[in-house]
Amino acid sequence: MSARYPIARPRRLRRTSALRRLVAETSVRPGDLILPMFVKESIDEPRPVGSMPGVLQHTRDSLRKAAQEAAEAGVGGLMLFGVPELKDERGSAADDPGGIVQGALRDLSTDLGDDIVIMADLCLDEYTSHGHCGLLTPSGEVDNDATLERYASIAVAQAAAGVDVVGPSGMMDGQVGAIRTALDQAGYTDVVILAYAVKYASSFYGPFRDAAEGAPQFGDRTGYQQDPANVRESLREVELDIAEGADMVMVKPALAYLDVVAKVAESVTVPVSAYQVSGEYAMVEAAAEKGWLDRERVIMETLLAFRRAGAGQILTYWATEAARLLR
Ligand code: PBG
Repeated sequence: MSARYPIARPRRLRRTSALRRLVAETSVRPGDLILPMFVKESIDEPRPVGSMPGVLQHTRDSLRKAAQEAAEAGVGGLMLFGVPELKDERGSAADDPGGIVQGALRDLSTDLGDDIVIMADLCLDEYTSHGHCGLLTPSGEVDNDATLERYASIAVAQAAAGVDVVGPSGMMDGQVGAIRTALDQAGYTDVVILAYAVKYASSFYGPFRDAAEGAPQFGDRTGYQQDPANVRESLREVELDIAEGADMVMVKPALAYLDVVAKVAESVTVPVSAYQVSGEYAMVEAAAEKGWLDRERVIMETLLAFRRAGAGQILTYWATEAARLLR
């Protein structure tokens, strides 16, 4: 039986690279990318992170250089993580004006001005001796409301050091509201809050805990980070954070949570970012090292997938390299 009409041929639009480019629905720009960076106190040389080949714990000097390179490549933002020399129960180094992140923020805001957006992770796990994201009660629970006061103080310290955007990542209830109030009262009404609104208790953070030296010394984070089984809960977290004043929201991890990225992007009008976390990076690097994956193509495919799912910004350890490939 012959077809009454000519058969549909979607392949027609895939024939040449010029046609494919013309009809592409999604793209990644260097300016969409945010580079997470680690800066460690009291080291003389940058140190490689074993489980994240190509990622370094920077000295203040090497951080400046790498940040400059990211800005030159057109990367949109930097997300700074500090690794202090001394940790204690309350994470005192986190809001110390002389602390490692505050020093690095002063360096970067002087060097880079408005060439790139300077962000800092706002949490306690890298700073506490027990490795949890908050203060502990005597029985070892994470004390939500006492932790909020610490976060408020860290936000003000980071703002005073020149941060453009703070990224609260500790998943305490009310953290965005507490931080917004503290920033406003201190006169930092222009500091943006990028809320890690949706953050799952994920095993994909494993390599990060080497990089940031923030592994919990007992227990895990399932009492404050989200259950990977849930998606409606994410919409609730996002709604609350926006009501408390979040300017942007993040979904984390990214690759295993593309459905969440898509649902969040449909449900809000603020920018939505996706964090391609350490384990996602390590998986690709390890397979590529064995020759099992085409590294660059896989990297670019993952970034495109986040954008297709609805993410505006992407946090990725490949930001500088990807930005160069995109130019
Ligand atoms: C907490 C924080 C973590 C990550 C970003 N911020 C670790 C955690 O929650 O255990 C993970 C990032 C990554 O895996 O790349 N400050």
